[in-house]
Amino acid sequence: MRTQVCIIGGGPSGLLLSQLLHLAGIDSVILERHTRDHVLSRIRAGVLEWGTVEMLEKAQAARRLHEEGFPHDGVLLSAQNRAFRIDFKALTGKRIMVYGQTEVTQDLYDARDAAGGTIVHEAQGVALHGLDGDAPHVTYVKDGTEHRVDCDFIAGCDGYHGVSRASIPEGKIRQFERIYPFGWLGVLSRTPPVSDELIYANHPRGFALCSMRNENLSRYYIQVPVDDPIGKWTDTAFWDELRRRLPNEAAERMATGASIEKAIVPLRSFVAEPMRHGRLFLVGDAAHIVPPTGAKGLNLAASDVHYLHEALVAHYGGDRLALDHYSPRALARIWQAIRFSWWMTTTLHRFPDQGEFAQRIQESELAHLANSATAQTEFAENYTGLPY
Ligand code: FAD
Ligand code: DHB
Repeated sequence: MRTQVCIIGGGPSGLLLSQLLHLAGIDSVILERHTRDHVLSRIRAGVLEWGTVEMLEKAQAARRLHEEGFPHDGVLLSAQNRAFRIDFKALTGKRIMVYGQTEVTQDLYDARDAAGGTIVHEAQGVALHGLDGDAPHVTYVKDGTEHRVDCDFIAGCDGYHGVSRASIPEGKIRQFERIYPFGWLGVLSRTPPVSDELIYANHPRGFALCSMRNENLSRYYIQVPVDDPIGKWTDTAFWDELRRRLPNEAAERMATGASIEKAIVPLRSFVAEPMRHGRLFLVGDAAHIVPPTGAKGLNLAASDVHYLHEALVAHYGGDRLALDHYSPRALARIWQAIRFSWWMTTTLHRFPDQGEFAQRIQESELAHLANSATAQTEFAENYTGLPY
């Protein structure tokens, strides 16, 4: 097979890049390790910045998003069992959209199918070759047969555990990392959400988050030790703990029910620099991870795709320097989101070694945020998404 851009990974960043390149007349092939059903069954992000919504519009994959998504104009934060609201619309004129990552991925698969795009699922043993030269290629095994894709460029959209970043020689890449000493237990349940808007709660027992997918589908998270056995968290234990961490009136009206998904995820901040090695470009989780507290992971994947697709279009239009700008441009925005996600994580969670001083600083941060329009505007700017 020969294509212009070989994309490794059929998650949201690979699909969005492929679709935008197609609309600009640039050919691509996606190699995905798993089946489509597997990719679509991963319950992950739920909050889209408006820039991400506009990217999906540009990709002609936003019809259902506008029919079924829920625009939100603000968010609630709670500390000391009292909630306060940050009004994005009033402070910045911007809003966010609540629409699940599984739905975004489904819409992008539909768009690629409608355009006749090539997506190879269950591509095993993907290997990248010739990254330093002018003619890279990718090999993989499907149904026991080895295949080869020749291309101009490779886009590594294969997530944190993918092969792309691992193919860059040591010494050619710098990695920055912080691992947080706790995880999130996430639960999806077919119950009405406890609140019309998201609630981020700081509590002496640990952080809690109330989110949603629709009128009858709720998504909740609580901070837990990352090595807790999942079996310890029966539905009853989860609902009891969640309610303890929320303001009383939210806890009292919480509708509970059987969970339909339950998992514990670790929290880390991670950045790999630069996001390019020769003809390989890293995109999304392949290059960076944020703790989920700021809802930035999927949104950063979308802004990376914005910068890379613009650079590729400019390159094929004759601008031979365009691709040099991809990594610095993407990284400038990524570090802003890394900072904001770190700050939200630090301010809202209980750390195992949190002494009294750190405790008082945390309380002061939240009191300042509750009382200062300037602090709320800064929060709203970051949460709704910095400009591209
Ligand atoms: P991925 O979604 O990881 O996709 C990579 C793809 O590459 C996968 O399909 C994988 O199978 C494939 N792949 C991997 N290795 C190979 C290989 N060797 N060969 C071929 N294919 C390969 N983000 C937000 O913006 N907002 C949120 O509210 C939010 N909440 C989250 C909640 C949770 C619990 C979690 C876990 C994450 C959350 N995120 C959130 C983060 C978001 O889900 C990710 O940032 C996003 O999925 C990144 O997309 P991606 O396409 O770069 O990578
Ligand atoms: C969701 C996940 C997040 O990490 C977040 O900050 C907000 C919402 C969600 O899954 O709905």
